[in-house]
Amino acid sequence: MSRTIFVTTALPYANGSFHIGHIMEYIQADIWVRSMRMSGHTVHFVCADDAHGAPIMLKAEAEGISPDELVARIAAERPKYLNGFHIEFDHWDRTNSPVNVELAQSIYRSLKEAGFIESRTIEQFYDPIKGMFLPDRYIKGECPSCRAKDQYGDSCEVCSSVYSPTDLIGPYSTLSNATPELRSSEHFFFKLSDPRCVEFLEEWTNGTDRHGNPRLQSEVRGKTREWLGVDEDGKVALNDWDISRDEPYYGIPIPDAPGKYFYVWLDAPVGYLASLKSYCKLKGLDFDALLDPNGDTEQVHFVGKDIVYFHALFWPAMLKFSGRKTPDSLNVHGFITVSGEKMSKSRGTGISPLRYLELDMNAEWMRYYIAAKLNSHVEDIDFNPDDFVARVNSDLVGKYINIASRAANFLTRHFDGALGFVGGTDELVAAQQELAEQVRANLEKREYGRAIRQIMAYADQINQAFDNAKPWLLAKGLNDAPESQQRELQDICSRAIAGFKALSVMLSPILPALAQRVATELFGLERPFVWLDAGELPTHIQAFKHLMQRVDPAALEALLTPPPAPAVTPGGEAIADTIDIKDFAKVDLRVAKIVNCTEVDGSDKLLCLTLDVGEPETRQIFSGIKSAYQPTDLIGKLTVVVANLAPRKMRFGVSEGMVLAASHNDPNVNEGLFILEPHSGAVPGMRIS
Ligand code: MSP
Ligand code: ZN
Repeated sequence: MSRTIFVTTALPYANGSFHIGHIMEYIQADIWVRSMRMSGHTVHFVCADDAHGAPIMLKAEAEGISPDELVARIAAERPKYLNGFHIEFDHWDRTNSPVNVELAQSIYRSLKEAGFIESRTIEQFYDPIKGMFLPDRYIKGECPSCRAKDQYGDSCEVCSSVYSPTDLIGPYSTLSNATPELRSSEHFFFKLSDPRCVEFLEEWTNGTDRHGNPRLQSEVRGKTREWLGVDEDGKVALNDWDISRDEPYYGIPIPDAPGKYFYVWLDAPVGYLASLKSYCKLKGLDFDALLDPNGDTEQVHFVGKDIVYFHALFWPAMLKFSGRKTPDSLNVHGFITVSGEKMSKSRGTGISPLRYLELDMNAEWMRYYIAAKLNSHVEDIDFNPDDFVARVNSDLVGKYINIASRAANFLTRHFDGALGFVGGTDELVAAQQELAEQVRANLEKREYGRAIRQIMAYADQINQAFDNAKPWLLAKGLNDAPESQQRELQDICSRAIAGFKALSVMLSPILPALAQRVATELFGLERPFVWLDAGELPTHIQAFKHLMQRVDPAALEALLTPPPAPAVTPGGEAIADTIDIKDFAKVDLRVAKIVNCTEVDGSDKLLCLTLDVGEPETRQIFSGIKSAYQPTDLIGKLTVVVANLAPRKMRFGVSEGMVLAASHNDPNVNEGLFILEPHSGAVPGMRIS
């Protein structure tokens, strides 16, 4: 029976390039999709850029461009990676599209009508300098449990305790260093704690898909049980979900609520539907029919373990109570590490997928390696360079590719490419069909590693049979040899080539480009392999070129060595918008003498300067220049300060102005830090204009 399947991968944030973790997720889903298509099923495979949220807004601001422009720039580089790794989405969209705005608002309206939205006034930290409410990750301070300094607003990296930002001791905004103020504001909540919701989620998370397979992996189900559990007072542990943010925010406006936007995680998964909807429009498909809640389409999401809460609770509940089709299954994978090291989201360490391609490394080596490591559980996998070389060179090339190289030559040289079998082939065909079915079933279950082990075991078997028959001896003096010897040689090589074809069919979801070359160049087939091809014995082969090189350890070495720092524009930042002289005159810049300078207890960034700005009293200014200067370097020197900046209360005291210093805009680029110094002769208090 032919199935219709709607498949997505998580929508990557559009504030950075793909890293190897993204590519791993796409490879996992792409293999699954290709295998399903090989069975004749219809698959709609879509993704999109996740455009909204505070980090994207702030990054665009720092670069002096609009968030839309930032998203467009990131979106423009996606195809290079996707095509490079043979990842074949049907459609790639973005969540800041009009279609998504419309869909997200309409889902919200339905939820509101059904009584699932509640408004409440809450108190939250507000950055008075930046003029915005602060997301938890932009607030730091001392951990209330262990008093470790500079911990994030939600949890402590030292003692792992979890708290809310208001519990921090001496909280400060990482955006401006200002001490945040508590302000109240109206927020909208999705009532996850509603008994209808809890009841539905109990049922959904414990349910099966239409084939009787559990919707969630057992470990994921374990997690949701915990989340849906009851606390000591018998109260359901699920909290209502805060889905609104105040301006300034880059997001979708909430209907009938001026100045309020959907929190990015509300409209992000709606982007799955919006991407499909846009795709349907392009292809003339009926979106509503496709996602009919009572229809036959299966909806399958591939996501990483860090975003299970959103996909196993929020998302199905949103869909259910807005009257839409709910997902059939959620496929959760672990994280990929490189040589045992976690990748940092911000630094994007590990191995760069783009560099991999630029070094001309074969994308299918990576697909093969990742597939060999993956199983259906939420387990992390490691990219290990030696293991990578071994698996590609010894298994993929040494076992599989080698079969064709060894057997095809004899057939083209002595038999004009014709295959011929001695004795029956029923057993051979049956064995190949059965193995292909096992491999197919394992791919469907996402047991890729197991599928590859089965494939390689069969390759071993073929190689062994070939070696045992010693065809190179049979080929000696073949023209004078009896007919039976010729038939025997042809039979041995034909069985090896038949095996090679079956293996190529089984490997096609994993190695699509290579399999297509095998199909076309070796077997003269102008279409991609389908599963049924595994049981069709070939009758003829054509001469073909070398199919796949081994990994060159030098290239791998280059991949693992960080590339030279990219060329950046000086300062790394575009020049800001034009201002007129009146704007400039608002800033009162004065020459100042540094009369004293000390370290600040408890801060590894700040120095405390005492400055003579030509006033009766000296001023105290905290400046984040400790990385570049010793206090004694500065005492007695002249510098430049912003003298009319509003005084700022910091954890360590009040800062009465700002010292001017030059540095690269991107804190990750270390080009040094330099405070300004006027030519000698200037006196404290002189105005700079
Ligand atoms: N924008 C959200 C998802 C919204 S879905 C409606 C997001 N984006 S992300 O760019 O941070 O992550 C995208 C996907 O990459 C997630 O599924 C995440 O789990 C996955 N990975 C991020 N780092 C990873 C690894 N190191 N390894 C494997 N997958 C990883 O979350
Ligand atoms: Zn702590």
